[in-house]
Amino acid sequence: MHIRLPLHYFRALACALVKSLPHTWNRASVLSAVLLLAACSEPATAPGAGDTPAGDSPPAAFNTSLNMKDFMNLILDPAADVLWDSAGWVDSRESGYEELYPTTDEQWDYVRRHSALLIEIGNMLALPGRALDNDAWLTYANGLSQAGALAMEAAALQNKEDFFQAGAQLYNVCTACHQAYNPEITSKFATN
Ligand code: HEC
Repeated sequence: MHIRLPLHYFRALACALVKSLPHTWNRASVLSAVLLLAACSEPATAPGAGDTPAGDSPPAAFNTSLNMKDFMNLILDPAADVLWDSAGWVDSRESGYEELYPTTDEQWDYVRRHSALLIEIGNMLALPGRALDNDAWLTYANGLSQAGALAMEAAALQNKEDFFQAGAQLYNVCTACHQAYNPEITSKFATN
């Protein structure tokens, strides 16, 4: 099992180790012991305190290197498509009227999973380093999570009408955010 050791905990372990070292040190171990003791002499802090400064330069806790275009095309769009492809109906000349809703428990489970994914994708968009601001952006990101939650609930109940409405709400959030942050996308999106 892989365990992540918080810094304050690591330091406490190192200090205990230095105190228990034998007195027959070679040069290398003296050097490392000096470094460890320097770490020990720093004022002790309560667990967790100081590890995450509340200032505007948070530690690089999240990897937000995926750019917005890739995020949209590779993460968000495919998840949303699963919902949209499973709601409503098509009326084509070849196959006639055809409902798109899931028809088996497995299919409902599948869309429920992707609804859950959308809840979390909303959070991903809100991450520091990815959010374009701390204002409207977060409202739209949260809107995704809300639509995902509605879809998830509807899928659990296999409620077609509610599931369709959740998909519509999802679409409205996409469109609203694009209109606010990148109006060009709206037209591109609509013609796809
Ligand atoms: C919080 C704001 C926000 C939300 C919500 C949002 N988008 Fe986006 N989207 C953007 C921004 C900003 C861009 C422009 C990215 C760029 O080109 O840098 C974009 C671009 C796109 C693109 C075009 C990518 C390209 O190749 O140019 C697609 C497709 C897309 N979004 C799909 C969606 C879908 C589907 C949803 C809803 C399920 C959605 N987006 C919700 C902000 C958002």
